Amino acid sequence: MWLFLFSTLLCSLVYLSETREEGKIIGGNPVPISEVPYQISFRYHNQHFCGGSIYNDQSIVTAAHCVEGFRNVNGLSIVAGQTKLSDTNGQKIAVTKMTPHPEYDAETVDYDVAVLHLAQPLVFNENVSAIELSTTPVRSRSMAYVTGWGTTKQGGGGEVSDHLLGVDVRVQSWYACQLQYFLKLTSRMFCAGNFFGGQDSCQGDSGGPVKFENKLVGIVSFGRGCGDVASPGVYTQVSSVIEFIKNATNTSP
Ligand code: ARG
Repeated sequence: MWLFLFSTLLCSLVYLSETREEGKIIGGNPVPISEVPYQISFRYHNQHFCGGSIYNDQSIVTAAHCVEGFRNVNGLSIVAGQTKLSDTNGQKIAVTKMTPHPEYDAETVDYDVAVLHLAQPLVFNENVSAIELSTTPVRSRSMAYVTGWGTTKQGGGGEVSDHLLGVDVRVQSWYACQLQYFLKLTSRMFCAGNFFGGQDSCQGDSGGPVKFENKLVGIVSFGRGCGDVASPGVYTQVSSVIEFIKNATNTSP
């Protein structure tokens, strides 16, 4: 046990000091939007920068850190129902309002959730539909599924994957993850990914969905590098912010 803890910390230290540049969703496969019809691309002047999930025909769930840099909604839109970023067959709708969680903390990344309100309702079809929110925390060892068009470089500015990608990620025990993240996690967070790395989300996947048993259990939030050893992806635990999402989606427009 102590050997495990020690090596965990050691690995973390080693990897903390390295800046890795990995590709996209790490270790994933191309997925058509019809398999994840709740996934949207969040855009600024039509440039993809974050993911999100359809909660109802006029509201999107994303990460607070995706909206924090914007003073207003000018230039912000979402695209639903599209497998490739370069396609034009999806529904592109302007964002009229963004509501980050009032307790979102940019330092700790606590409460990393926001709701987007759309200018017009989405038209649901086989490629566009809502996902239910999970009312319970996802249990450790569960195999969850994360999708996105994430970029190929850390810290943004890298290339996005034109094709939507998805990867299975194993939910980790919260305590084991706390050690890997030097006790910086809050109870609004959970971790997923292989201890040895290899399966992860990455820059540009943020705000996107983590699905388990057809419910939204997580929101892509942050990580140390992408797909690295002892650096699992950290996700917002949807069940712990469900009241916020419900309230924010009720009070339209
Ligand atoms: N913060 C990143 C974004 O804005 C998401 C990073 C997820 N990283 C990870 N290793 N799982 O897109």
